[in-house]
Amino acid sequence: MNSCARLQLVADEVVAALTPVVRDLRITEDELHAAGDYLNRLGQAGMCRSLLDIAFAMTAVDTRRAGIPGTRTNLEGPLYRPGAPERANGSSMIERDLSADADLLILSGKVRDATTGSPLSGVELDFWHADEHGLYDRDGNHLRGIVRSDENGDYRIESVLPIDYAEHQNDPIGELLDELGRTSFRAAHIHLKVRVDGVERLTTQFFRSDSPHLEHDYVIGAVSDDLVATPKHVGERDGHPLYEMTFDIDVPPLTDDAGGNR
Ligand SMILES: [Fe+2]
Repeated sequence: MNSCARLQLVADEVVAALTPVVRDLRITEDELHAAGDYLNRLGQAGMCRSLLDIAFAMTAVDTRRAGIPGTRTNLEGPLYRPGAPERANGSSMIERDLSADADLLILSGKVRDATTGSPLSGVELDFWHADEHGLYDRDGNHLRGIVRSDENGDYRIESVLPIDYAEHQNDPIGELLDELGRTSFRAAHIHLKVRVDGVERLTTQFFRSDSPHLEHDYVIGAVSDDLVATPKHVGERDGHPLYEMTFDIDVPPLTDDAGGNR
């Protein structure tokens, strides 16, 4: 199907799906115009793509990856930066002084072939995540790094526990979420790309089980039980609480399109 025919098909289906909504909810012309005015403002702010991602990207990702074994794919998000430094297995991604409220994290897990269940060694795990204030390092490599699974398929990296963070607080998307009685918080998560022999197999993110926004992350469908990991308090180090968290990774087979949706 060429792109013109596909556009016609999609447009027809969208109109057909929305027509009963307009009819059954008795949407008025004034309400249609208010929605149009909102979409105009959304476009002027350059945020149409973000709104579609919030609403539908995970459905697109799950549909694209349906039937492929392995850890569930998730959104890449806008803050991935290629070229993070290689970290020795067991070393730390912390490159800055931490604030007093930072919780230290030892993250570990097993990397397996999703098809055979066998441990995989030498797999590149490219992590990036927000800090104890919910902020990403946009310039340097604090809380960014690549670690490789060892000969038993195990990996271990030290970091801090990320916290939930809000986006869209002062833009048209935040305004809409506010009107809907929702927030623009992301449940605390760690992003991850998985590469085997330099070829990307998986982009995902996994979530803290104790996040207050786990049940209502504003990205619809992002959180699922299989992508939730539990931090366990195991002591103190350098005046900071120390947690351990395990997240095992089942590497999907090589496919044409293994990346996450941006
Ligand atoms: Fe993120």
